Amino acid sequence: MTLSVLVLNGPNLNMLGRREPEVYGGQTLADIEAACVQRAAPLGLSVEFRQSNSEGEMIDWIQQSRGNHAALIVNAGAYTHTSVALLDALLACQAPVIEVHLSNIFQRESFRHESYVSKAARGMICGFGGLSYELALEAAARMLGIEQQG
Ligand code: DQA
Repeated sequence: MTLSVLVLNGPNLNMLGRREPEVYGGQTLADIEAACVQRAAPLGLSVEFRQSNSEGEMIDWIQQSRGNHAALIVNAGAYTHTSVALLDALLACQAPVIEVHLSNIFQRESFRHESYVSKAARGMICGFGGLSYELALEAAARMLGIEQQG
């Protein structure tokens, strides 16, 4: 059985490749999506990959994920550090959440050290560029496999 994972990307992540490449790397979001799709298949997962610059749209997608996705992988961009509304949406969604970031947010400005998303997440992977997403898929597959057996 293939389980669906929603990969949710927040503001400015559509600019990857052109946006501060020294911080975020040279991969575009489409490159990361392609790598995720490729990595997901042998793990028994399918990926629905989305990006929005709008907090409200992200919240709508989280609400709609109920019953449709086995897990969520979330890079909320700057909303990570600001959005109680996004946190509330994630707390209300039944599927497990894995937080990801391209950069190591703890090596950066202090305002990036606080994450609202973390308060709803099983775990967080940051600092590996696009690989953070692939590692999160790996974690999702292992976690879902264990939970389905239990
Ligand atoms: C980011 C880190 C955030 O602090 C920043 O606002 C982003 C990207 C990351 O993936 O490293 O937009 O989430």
